[in-house]
Amino acid sequence: MRCTTDLYGSLYARWLVNPGSLLDEAGYKPGMKVLDLCGGTGAVSMECLRRGADPKDITLLDLNPRCPDKRIQTITADAMQLGQAFGNDLDTFDLIICRQAAAYLKWGEWSLSWIQALLRDEGKLVFNLFTRPRWSLKFYIFEGQRFLEASGYIGRRVFHLQAAPGIGFDVTRFKWHDPDQLQDRMGHWFDIEINDRDRSSTWICTRPAWSPAGKRLLPHACDEFAAAGRITEGE
Ligand SMILES: C[S@@+](CC[C@H](N)C(=O)[O-])C[C@H]1O[C@@H](n2cnc3c(N)ncnc32)[C@H](O)[C@@H]1O
Repeated sequence: MRCTTDLYGSLYARWLVNPGSLLDEAGYKPGMKVLDLCGGTGAVSMECLRRGADPKDITLLDLNPRCPDKRIQTITADAMQLGQAFGNDLDTFDLIICRQAAAYLKWGEWSLSWIQALLRDEGKLVFNLFTRPRWSLKFYIFEGQRFLEASGYIGRRVFHLQAAPGIGFDVTRFKWHDPDQLQDRMGHWFDIEINDRDRSSTWICTRPAWSPAGKRLLPHACDEFAAAGRITEGE
């Protein structure tokens, strides 16, 4: 039985606390144009508003945007297909922030080329990444309900299961990114600074100031290569 209840929703929300920490690491200031990539329920976007942002400076993109603040512009799209979402609107954002979602994305060359082209000179892509999966089994009580939580991995496939008697279970799965491989790939597009913590890290990826001709041609050239089957998106 698979069951997603409000209780699992609040349990999950425990992992989404402190939406401001990535903004702090990114050096966010009101006035910056922000793309909240995989923004979901808009925690990061709303934190920008709380810090004084003009809503027109904030755009949230998600496969399933669920932001309750309707002043924020939302785009329903795949974060790895930004060419379709933004077309010729390049050089748009000072900050592309992707919180608690990088593990779900492939970060292939084509998508990276679009991300860097959407950033202004010296603009930053900032995301956090789960870097060290391990096996663990825990029992705990949340909102009066007993839970079993099991995490593990097989190769690069990570799973996280929560189960409660009488409620069912909820499983999250994703593919763990090898940080060295990811850094190699992203290094073609960005200057990268990585702040490591115990099991996660924050990546601050700055788009170098390149010539306008170079940065405008790149994603379109990648589109053509992709259409010709000459580049593929990650694994
Ligand atoms: C854990 S939530 C994080 C939401 C938000 N960034 C936050 O910090 O509260 C992950 C989000 O990633 C979105 N997502 C996953 N894969 C995506 C993709 N390929 N393109 C766009 N959004 C995606 C999901 O819809 C979900 O809203």
